Amino acid sequence: MKLSIGKTATGEDFFLRNDVVAEIYEALNEGNHLLLSAPRRVGKTSIIHYIKDNPTEDYYCVYVDTEDVTDSQTFFKVLLKAIFDIENKSRYQKSIEKAGKTIKGFFDKIDNVDIGGFFSIDFSGKDNESIDYYEKFKDFLEKVDLDNRKILLMVDEFPVTIEHIKDEQGEQAARNFLKQNRSIRQNDKYNQKIKFIYTGSIGLLSVVKKLNATVDVNDILPYKLKPLTLTEGLELSQNLLQTYKIEIEENVLKYLLKDKIEWLIPFHIQLSIKEIRDLFRIAPQKVNSEFIDKAFNELILNGDIYLDHYRGRLSKVFNRDELTLVHGILKKLTEQQTVNEAELYDLAVKHHLENSFKNILLTLEYDGYIVEYSDKKWRFYSPILKKWWSKNV
Ligand SMILES: Nc1ncnc2c1ncn2[C@@H]1O[C@H](COP(=O)(O)OP(=O)(O)OP(=O)(O)O)[C@@H](O)[C@H]1O
Ligand SMILES: [Mg+2]
Repeated sequence: MKLSIGKTATGEDFFLRNDVVAEIYEALNEGNHLLLSAPRRVGKTSIIHYIKDNPTEDYYCVYVDTEDVTDSQTFFKVLLKAIFDIENKSRYQKSIEKAGKTIKGFFDKIDNVDIGGFFSIDFSGKDNESIDYYEKFKDFLEKVDLDNRKILLMVDEFPVTIEHIKDEQGEQAARNFLKQNRSIRQNDKYNQKIKFIYTGSIGLLSVVKKLNATVDVNDILPYKLKPLTLTEGLELSQNLLQTYKIEIEENVLKYLLKDKIEWLIPFHIQLSIKEIRDLFRIAPQKVNSEFIDKAFNELILNGDIYLDHYRGRLSKVFNRDELTLVHGILKKLTEQQTVNEAELYDLAVKHHLENSFKNILLTLEYDGYIVEYSDKKWRFYSPILKKWWSKNV
């Protein structure tokens, strides 16, 4: 297993958490559509890529990233296109055959669905204004026979799409878009044929709250992707270290994981192991806790290229006044272990932003900065981000 930082972890470089994948399938089999939810960089995209690359026989898995989509018509067009995509189909077929099963004739059934000239549509060409892709999508689900299998459509960056539609076409259009998606999910007939997993690097709930449209997503079951356990963290670290031929005693690794990284997301483990490897290359030696301290400090010093995306998001989502408040909140949190929500609220009052306060906290939480640690007490999720923030911002 090689280091894989900043890009989706796939194949050999993906650390598999069997329980997570099993729980996701369990929730799907119970009939749910899912919202895979976790703060930034916890590993959402990597998980759904794994599911796409290793599908079970019952679900034809389709992955789409709709980050660039800015209108509802293109959204449904992109979904249809992905379902019919030849590469997608052959990946599924290969994976099922590898498991010793056959799915003969399955794709013919998809290909032969006649939804009114659909196959003559040039997907890559200019938009054909006369085609209603939402209607085509429903028509397809109406007619397709999937042999009791289901399409598992995994939509990455769904909340970004909603924001784009809002920005380009207004709030009403964004709400209509949510209703269109809901009505597909709520249709009993389609429900036998398709399940959705939504995820994204920004929080769906904070996006729909701003639109007063939470009712349009409350049928989706949230599945919270958790950080790794200590045992999993140790295993991932050992796997990576082995590749670079570095030996570290378990108690020293535990020191790294428990006392330094604390919030055990694969991303932060990868970043730390990279620093250890780089330091080890310059000066190979027995790795003890002082070595770990040094590597950890290097990570904070060198972290900009990996951590700056956290900061970049803030100036996109918050206006100037909100941003000033956000900086105030984060500054307070770098100075203390935990801070009472009431104290943070006082800051909001000072900035006349009481009304946005809740949503700001929610956004910061989803962005992976802060977490409600115990009742109404907030702290940074991660000492890495906390130290980096207090040094850089
Ligand atoms: N299962 C895993 N095995 C190994 N590394 C992982 C795994 N999951 C995540 N990572 C590490 O974390 C980084 C972020 O993962 P990923 O892009 O999947 O997260 P994400 O939750 O989709 O992030 P974002 O919210 O920014 O979209 C990867 O670049 C990789 O370094
Ligand atoms: Mg992602």
